[in-house]
Amino acid sequence: SQLEMFVDELPDMPRVKGYDVDNGAPVSKSLVIGMFCKQWKFHRDLPPTQVFAYGTSEETATVPGPTIEALHGIDTHVTWTNHLPSKHILPWDPTIPTAIPQKMKGIPTVVHLHGGIDEPESDGHATSWFTSEFEEQGPTWTRKTYHYHNLQHPGTLWYHDHAMGLTRVNLLAGLVGAYIIRHPHVELPLGLPSVEKFDRPLFVFDRSFRSDGSIFMNSTGNNPSIHPQWQPEYFGNSIIVNGKAWPHMIVRRRRYRFRIINASNARFFKFYFNNGLKFIHVGSDSAYHEKPVIVNDILLAPSEIADVVIDFSKSISDSAILCNDAPYPYPSGDPVNEANSKIMKFTINPGHESDTSKIPSRLIKYPYPNLPSASTTRYIAFYEYTSDIGEPTHLYINGKSFEAPVTEKPKVGATEIWNVINLTGDNHPLHIHLGLFVALDQTELVDVDKFKECMMKVNDAIKCHLDKYARGKKIEVPAHEKGWKNVYKMMPGYVTKILVRFSYIHSNDSYPFDATAEPGYVYHCHILDHEDNVMMRPLKFVH
Ligand code: C2O
Ligand code: CU
Repeated sequence: SQLEMFVDELPDMPRVKGYDVDNGAPVSKSLVIGMFCKQWKFHRDLPPTQVFAYGTSEETATVPGPTIEALHGIDTHVTWTNHLPSKHILPWDPTIPTAIPQKMKGIPTVVHLHGGIDEPESDGHATSWFTSEFEEQGPTWTRKTYHYHNLQHPGTLWYHDHAMGLTRVNLLAGLVGAYIIRHPHVELPLGLPSVEKFDRPLFVFDRSFRSDGSIFMNSTGNNPSIHPQWQPEYFGNSIIVNGKAWPHMIVRRRRYRFRIINASNARFFKFYFNNGLKFIHVGSDSAYHEKPVIVNDILLAPSEIADVVIDFSKSISDSAILCNDAPYPYPSGDPVNEANSKIMKFTINPGHESDTSKIPSRLIKYPYPNLPSASTTRYIAFYEYTSDIGEPTHLYINGKSFEAPVTEKPKVGATEIWNVINLTGDNHPLHIHLGLFVALDQTELVDVDKFKECMMKVNDAIKCHLDKYARGKKIEVPAHEKGWKNVYKMMPGYVTKILVRFSYIHSNDSYPFDATAEPGYVYHCHILDHEDNVMMRPLKFVH
């Protein structure tokens, strides 16, 4: 039976400061954050659920984990510790490239700070995994304590698991959390809602549960003779925000800032309000826009972030339901139903509110990418390989497995053009570690089947005459998606041109670490089920 909506209050996850204060001045801090297997209540009427949760202790661990509040320019060190049991709570598939401990015991985990500009050794490489109490380590593991420099522009990041082949199940089990880099000197003058109560992360994901409360994940793959457990996309029938199914929140008649993070495996959300309330979009995944953009709806792919202000004083009704109407898979899957078309409910307190926050007409202007400065042009093609029954066997980038030799070797500090060619029927959110990028344009491919036929054989966009096929409709990048991003939606049947920068966007400083160090980085599709099988490639830097 369907769980009743809007009965649980929206939690705010525990906040953990990533800095200390010494004599009034902020100084660096070392945190220990563990992964624990514990019970979590997703809904008033659902029995407790076994989850994997991040926390500074088992008692305080939550799903999502604590929000780490870092300060620009102040180092945060985190020792991520694994206290998970020897057996996973979800079915995982050994037929895809997977981290498997030799003793066949323990759950491999490794933490990636998504959006972070950090050294390779602290980036949470998929093969740098470790099991409980560091008993076993993956081939590229080097250190227990990760170093986050926080030297980048202010914005919203998130941390999550990244273990090879287990990312989808480790995130489904609960291993996600928010990480905010604040730069008071540049942010406070903007006047946006900034007090803790009025500036809150909203972690949104979908899950299914059995009646005993356990997380349900189909344990049979669509193509079981090839992959006994792997499915091309996980979709859940309940919508969870900050760890509660369809929560509600009582708000005051004023402005709130929400950092909406889509932490689903595969579900895109197209958010809108049932009463026409608008979103004032101030930032993307990681960076502020130059100017606020007012929109009626926001399409977020897995791992995309919308940093928005909602002005509840403009609401025409005393409640507002945040809704979703994105088909799944996106864009040509099933339409939403009653359960997944609702996200959460806001009840607006009557009465006048004094609100000193404001929406400035200008936010932060970062230098716009300089096209002629691009030193390299790359072609990145997404493929889906299917079995005779039409079910995917694997999804590759450029027709290459993850283990195939590195082909993307940018220079540290370089600016590059990547033409991302999507030859599949799904939209894939591309995420590049270390880099930040701007989506320039999207062009439809004509005669896509012919082009695809050539690409499947020759696997070279130039030899297959991409220019002859890339002459269909052009789609403009929407105003609120024009800024710097670390993930973007690649439309099926289109080539999307992005300009990628492997340097800071707010200064000309070079990285304070060696980006060419082992084990390097990765780039991948952020639909976790795709990433795991294996729409992911290594990314290594050279001087
Ligand atoms: Cu959010 Cu490589 O990941
Ligand atoms: Cu994908």
